Amino acid sequence: MCGIVGAIAQREVSEILIEGLKRLEYRGYDSAGLALIDTENPKLNSIKAVGKVEKLVGQVSRSRKKGNLGIAHTRWATHGKPTVKNAHPHTSNDEIALVHNGIIENYEELREELKKAGYRFETETDTEVIAHLIHQNRKGGKVDLLGAVRESIKKLEGAYGICVIDVDSPDQIIVTRSGSPLVIGKGIGENFVASDALALGQVTDRFIFLEEGDIARITLDDIEIWNRNRKVNREVTHINSKQSEAEKGGFSHYMLKEIYEQPDAIRDTLEGRISATRVLEEAFGIKAKAIFDKVTNVQIVACGTSYLAGQVAKYWLESIARIPCQVDIASDYRYRDVIVQPGTLFVSISQSGETADTLAALRFANKAGYLATFAICNVATSSLVRESDFCLLTHAGQEIGVASTKAFTTQLCLLLLLAICLGRRHGLTDKAEAKIVRRMHKLPELVANTLKLNKQIKKLSQRFADKQHTLFLGRGIQYPVAKEGALKLKEISYIHAEAYPAGELKHGPLALVDSNMPVIAVAPNNELLGKLKANLAEVSARGGKLFVFADESIGYEGDKNCKVIHVPTSPDVLEPIIFVVPLQLLAYHVAILKGTDVDQPRNLAKSVTVE
Ligand code: M6R
Repeated sequence: MCGIVGAIAQREVSEILIEGLKRLEYRGYDSAGLALIDTENPKLNSIKAVGKVEKLVGQVSRSRKKGNLGIAHTRWATHGKPTVKNAHPHTSNDEIALVHNGIIENYEELREELKKAGYRFETETDTEVIAHLIHQNRKGGKVDLLGAVRESIKKLEGAYGICVIDVDSPDQIIVTRSGSPLVIGKGIGENFVASDALALGQVTDRFIFLEEGDIARITLDDIEIWNRNRKVNREVTHINSKQSEAEKGGFSHYMLKEIYEQPDAIRDTLEGRISATRVLEEAFGIKAKAIFDKVTNVQIVACGTSYLAGQVAKYWLESIARIPCQVDIASDYRYRDVIVQPGTLFVSISQSGETADTLAALRFANKAGYLATFAICNVATSSLVRESDFCLLTHAGQEIGVASTKAFTTQLCLLLLLAICLGRRHGLTDKAEAKIVRRMHKLPELVANTLKLNKQIKKLSQRFADKQHTLFLGRGIQYPVAKEGALKLKEISYIHAEAYPAGELKHGPLALVDSNMPVIAVAPNNELLGKLKANLAEVSARGGKLFVFADESIGYEGDKNCKVIHVPTSPDVLEPIIFVVPLQLLAYHVAILKGTDVDQPRNLAKSVTVE
């Protein structure tokens, strides 16, 4: 999704801006642009390109434009097609230039007002209104840039992270956020801004994360921040940028690298959170004990893969903690008439911690009378973490592939720990806890063994590359795992994939089954195995082609219509974490055969920061 970078320095900034944009490429975008002002000879120069940042780089070098003040952007189209005109920065009267993340909901109304005031619109975007509004509020220079931005944002409805520069004030960048993250990078005699600290790791390790409603003036050697007209101090956070994490380390794609990182990611996530036989509840933070004592219900809210992790957790919370749990898709939850039961813990799950719908749900929950809000997240500095009552971080390392993999398995680890902590209060014995924890210690090794199926799965992927549709089946706790397999396949290979609880087959989807419809099933060795086998026989009897990922201990072979992939045996409680791994690999190899952009699939973004 859209990315922002800005810089003010004594040196030329276009390279800093471009490197920042490159570091944000993984988020997904369809055009890019930058605007530069040379403070010696203030004039606004914008350069934009449709497609990859590399194309912009060529244009910038050919243009020979330079500047020591600049803003840059990668755009993921929302209003208007990905065209050069619609790409950011947007300008007003060749004076103001602005980049924006988020969506302005009342832009049509503002556009009409501004047209009446004589402004001409060049683009189809919602963002252009902000540039003209700021120009209008400058009142021909009578109001300074900060004042004009302040006045303008009063009229905006929706979400924004904005950076503005003006030829008439070439000594500053004005930035403000509401609903979209922005972080200021502190340098020495130079300062920076971005939508993600990662974009600035090349120039600084000192960051100020802006809070909701903050507006800031950034100059060469000063950063002033206000919130509701009051000057505020924001803490400086030190972050060591581990750029190596953002490299592929010998793998052909980030996604494959991240699939292979899972044993380490799981080990790192569990480290310090479990002893030999117990979950170390202190890891949840000092507030956790008192809150956990009062929890009688859990409400989980998330999107995409994180939502599916929540669906797996529902089974654990019910079976291990004996606590009712409701799981909602954030974009639906935020518009429901939610009834909050007393004693309910609100749990949000997110890799990025910046997903707009999940954040909106959290913000609602913070006021809705929940016992407390708890976040499971992979980004320590994210809005989700900062705005939740308490949180537990997955230590998965940066996830760059749009298709989420290691985030899912590490989220599951923490959700299992949560189920155990709550379970202790609802009848889970020390002995039962110790049994699960001992098994969790083996998880990294079990995942590593499962990854050994890669070669076999690569071969199998050839059977899918020419297919239009695929059906995934799972029962019980494996149903959300089947859904995650279908999500992975559809998002990176563009093959239509659906998941069903196997028991639901004969209530409709069985009609789809013929020899052209591959049916993938996950078959762990659990109490539902017998029932699953019966469902698979129904598919086979109708000529369906079955591909069954089966626990090796059950010795399942199926019939002539069935290809079985034997998955290393794992303890039942861990099966969702193990069985998702071959499904990730299958999606990856099918996508490779189809020649898609695995790490940045079409139309998708890594972090969905708009509604
Ligand atoms: O950063 P989040 O976990 O909040 O993101 C949620 C979804 O956008 C994300 O899981 C998405 O579904 C992935 N592309 C799935 O692979």
